[in-house]
Amino acid sequence: MTSTPLRYRAGSEAAPALLRAAVLEGLQSTPKTLPAALFYDARGAELFEEITRLPEYYLTRTEHAILKQHAGDLADRIGENAAIIEFGSGAAIKVRYLLSALRNASAYIPVDVSREQLHAVAAERAIEYPGVSVLPVWADYTEPFDLPDMPDSARRIGFFPGSTIGNLHPDEASAFLRRVRDCVGDDGGLILGVDRRKDPWLLNAAYNDAAGVTAEFNLNALSHLNREFRATFARAGFKHRAFFNDVASRIEMHLEALSPQHVMLQGTSVTFAAGETVRTECSYKYDRPRLDAVVANGGFRVAELFTDAQQWFWVAWLEPV
Ligand code: TRP
Repeated sequence: MTSTPLRYRAGSEAAPALLRAAVLEGLQSTPKTLPAALFYDARGAELFEEITRLPEYYLTRTEHAILKQHAGDLADRIGENAAIIEFGSGAAIKVRYLLSALRNASAYIPVDVSREQLHAVAAERAIEYPGVSVLPVWADYTEPFDLPDMPDSARRIGFFPGSTIGNLHPDEASAFLRRVRDCVGDDGGLILGVDRRKDPWLLNAAYNDAAGVTAEFNLNALSHLNREFRATFARAGFKHRAFFNDVASRIEMHLEALSPQHVMLQGTSVTFAAGETVRTECSYKYDRPRLDAVVANGGFRVAELFTDAQQWFWVAWLEPV
């Protein structure tokens, strides 16, 4: 059983109570887990930006290269008069490849929980693409949300880059895809960024960078807990551990207790044996059969796959079935 994904970031108001419940539940489970939402405080967001520029972290630059090279092909697939709905728009950088390649896109609908960033990037994209109606939606895309009014005739196209689908358990990923399918309708489409299974050495390196930024990012979750939840984690008592689990086809990120640890958190005491870990994130890596299965369970089919020269990453074009 996996818990509901919580994509909370600083700026969301209702989230802390939910996050607190998820933290307590995860720390009392066997094996222990923590919600990945803990990564994204202000420091975590900065560290993640740094991760995307690391030499070992090939994902971001590879996806950029594919989008850049195939934006025209995607535009052909999408056609004219489209509404692009981005789930978790963040800085809304990657969508620029699409908006630039599309002829007569009618609308761009960025959806994000970070309200300030959402409105700032919406204003920027509106200036950059004067023919496009930019209609920001402040919402957690993992929950149902209302779409703004948009031209009825517009073809709805989802955009979910960054291999974020990989941070969901495959069952959750299919459930997410079913919601996207409801949102885009029978004649819609979805552009999905997917990290591919590859040499474990490359995967392990991507999440164990030599500069230690990913370790810092992972350990920052403990600082976040200490600060926001007055927890008593000793950061020096834990170390970053990330490895490829071949059977589950995922990178697992853990924090491992270096010696027995005792932590207080909201009046609850939590103990770690030496060597015991708490899992903080998973990043599923897909091959074609695994991708087809998740996509089919989500009510889509893979209509076209775009990849890079090294075949490390996919930008998938999905159509509803
Ligand atoms: N989705 C990306 C990935 O799985 C980004 C990401 C999410 C990430 N959580 C992370 C990267 C934790 C490093 C560590 O790689």
